[in-house]
Parts: sequence; C-alpha cells; structure tokens
Amino acid sequence: MAAVTVYRARVLLNPTPQRRVECLWDGALVVDASNGSIVACAPTAELGRHFSGAPTVDFGPHSVLLPGLVDVHTHLPQYPAIGQDRDELLTWLRELIFPLEARYADPDFAEQQAELFFRTALDSGTTTLVTFGPPTAAATSRAFAAAARAGLRVLMGQTLMDRNVPVELSTPTNDALQALERITAEWHGYDGRLFSVVSPRFAGSCSLALLQLCSRFAQRHQLLLQTHLAESPRELRWIAELFPEFSDYTAIYEAAALLTPRTIFAHCIYLSPSERARLHSAGCAIAHCPRSNAFLRSGIMPLRQYLQEGLRVGLGTDIGAGYSLSVLEEARYACEMAKLRAFLTPEEVPTEVTPEEALWLATLGGAQALGLEHQIGTLDPGKEADFIVLDTSAWVPAATLQGLAPEALVSRLLYTAPPSSLKAVFVRGRRLR
Ligand code: GUN
Ligand code: ZN
Repeated sequence: MAAVTVYRARVLLNPTPQRRVECLWDGALVVDASNGSIVACAPTAELGRHFSGAPTVDFGPHSVLLPGLVDVHTHLPQYPAIGQDRDELLTWLRELIFPLEARYADPDFAEQQAELFFRTALDSGTTTLVTFGPPTAAATSRAFAAAARAGLRVLMGQTLMDRNVPVELSTPTNDALQALERITAEWHGYDGRLFSVVSPRFAGSCSLALLQLCSRFAQRHQLLLQTHLAESPRELRWIAELFPEFSDYTAIYEAAALLTPRTIFAHCIYLSPSERARLHSAGCAIAHCPRSNAFLRSGIMPLRQYLQEGLRVGLGTDIGAGYSLSVLEEARYACEMAKLRAFLTPEEVPTEVTPEEALWLATLGGAQALGLEHQIGTLDPGKEADFIVLDTSAWVPAATLQGLAPEALVSRLLYTAPPSSLKAVFVRGRRLR
C-alpha cells in the first residue's frame, strides 16, 4: 500500500456533478503522500482499520474540510487598485487601471507584487486561480516565477492589447506572437500546476488581427483563452461603434474563431438569446463576477438562467473591480445579487440561487469551467488533493454544529464564515498554509 496521510474533520463537504454538495460527518480524506492524490473520502467508521497505521491529522470537532476554491477570473496587475470607487467600466479603466497596469511592465515590481497577490489568494482559500497578467512578457515571466514559489495552481497570460490603450500597454501583433511563444515555452505545464492562458483583453482594446492571432495560438497549443464580453451598457455601445460590421458583440469573437470549449468569457451580463445559444453550442465558459459587476455599476448577470440553459459558469473575483481575493465572498455575493435580480425582474422565474449552488460554483463549477474537473473540484478518489479546512467555532456555537442540517450548515458557512476561520490550505497534498 502507498504511503498515505489521513486528514480527519468533523464535516467534509463534497460537491457532486448534480450541482449539489454532499455533507459527510466525522469523515476522513486519505491522501497518497507520494503524488498528492486522493485515495479515499469517507466516514471514518467506514474506513475501519484500513489506514489505521498511517500518519493522521485530526482537524478537530469544529472543522469543515472542502475542496480548494477556484477563482476563474481576476487581474493580478490591478491589486493595488482595489476599493477605489470611481465610475463605470470605461472611465475606471482609463483613469485608474491603465496607469497602474503600466507600472507592471517593470519585472521587479511585477514579481514583488505577484508574491503578495498569490499569498493573499492562498490566505483566502484559493487553490486554483486564473488571472490576466502584466502587460509585458518579461514581467509576466517574473509573475510566473512568484507563482512557482507560492505553490498554488495558476493559469495566467500577459494582458494583450494593441489599440485604444496607452502606448506602454500596447503590444504589436508580431511581438504578441513572440511573447506568447516565450511564456508558453517557459511556463506552460511547470510542475503540473502553472499554465499559459492566451489573454487578449477585449474587443475594445484588441484589433481583429490580434484576436485572430490569439485564437490561432491557443488552438495550436490547446491553451485556454480568456477575454471579456458584454459587461456594461456603455461598453456595448462603444464596441458597436468600433465594429459596425458585426451584428452583435459575440459575432466579433466568432469572426476571430474564439468560440471554443477552451474560452472563458468574463461577465456576459448583456447577451441576447441568440448569443447565449451560440456560446452554449460552442461549449464556452463564463466567469461570473458579481462583486465587480456591482462595484462598476455594470449590472446583474442572469446566473440562474445561464445555469438552467446548461452554460458552464465559474466565479471570478475580478480584482481590482472586485475588492477581495475571497471566492467565498464572491459566492455570497452571487446569492445576494441573484436575489436582487429576482426582485428587479419578477417576470424571470426562478432567479435565485441557493448557498449550496454558490458553494458548488466556487469549487466544482469553477473546475468544470476550466476543463479541470477530472483533476480538482471535489474530494473524490483519484483527484488531486486540493482542499481547505475551516474552523466553525468562530461562527457556529459548538452545540449548534451537531444539530445543523446540511443545507443550514452550508448556508451558515457561506454567509458568515469570516476570513480568520481558514485554518489550512493544501494543494496536491502539500500544506501551504
Ligand atoms: N474589460 C476590459 N478590461 C477589463 C478589466 O480590466 N476589468 C473589467 N472588469 N472589465 C474589463
Ligand atoms: Zn476582468
């Protein structure tokens, strides 16, 4: 038998493909120490004496163990801008974000800031994170070096732009190809947990030629590609002016052959039924970022409708419009904003999402959106042991935990667990916190 470590917890929460979260009392996660994969996940009593000699860590009577959180959309070079309330998207980008991102062209600054960024993500329970990176290849490479040291899974790419941005942020098409080749050669697949993601910012700051180049590169190397789509009313009007020959926003990305199962579109608040159907039939994923959408006055994405239509959706913190790296807080906001949408659009029924569904989105939903559901997102045997442990004693009186129904426990966790209740973070069986 392989050398294993047994992690015992009072409650284990395991997401299922049916968009549910199973609640296991007095259970244990058994992890293969040689490769960090999950060997078993079951009530301790069921495991019997099978692993009785193995090293055991007991997180105690107040512990909840669940899969690591998955952030499917954020921006590393915007972290210093969090909480700076200014205006809607386009003004915010021009006045606050573009000057800040230009500073990340400096590789030393980028690496130093990336270190803080990844540390904070881990301290929020995030074990997998997809992010737009700095505006140059040299700085993006150094941000990857920080990710290599931090230990979490990072999917990242240089933020690519070639128009309507300050010259310091612009990368001509030829240079973009070289940059993609360099980053992919240096970092894609590093340690099985760092990945190159092709990252053209959006149609507003990318020519069709750049979008097409990105699409070809992603296709050739089978990489994920991320961009933004249909985020704000003013953005929609501007994009329509920039691309008058296209019938809608999605058609621009279609013309660049970007509608594939490996593309993640952030926001997608304002999609017509036809656009939704085209994204669905192409198998695209959507990054839902409810806090950013509130912060920038963008709107409320019809989350329930998208789930019902079978679109793949994950949660993104979208720093710096989102204002913390906590995916748990993002999930909380997803619930609250869905309620607000239900209030504002009573004709859409049903509209709300449950805390259980929100926690599912923060774990297995995110993994599915990235095509990583065979590796992460649940506690099932065979997957890689990315998990976190929360201590409930800060937010559930000890006597109450015992009697809580699973839905009540998940709801309590989602709405009230403070950041300080995070006790441990593991990636591939390795404790990082
Ligand atoms: N659309 C294009 N760029 C950005 C960005 O940096 N943040 C957000 N929220 N939307 C965008
Ligand atoms: Zn974004």
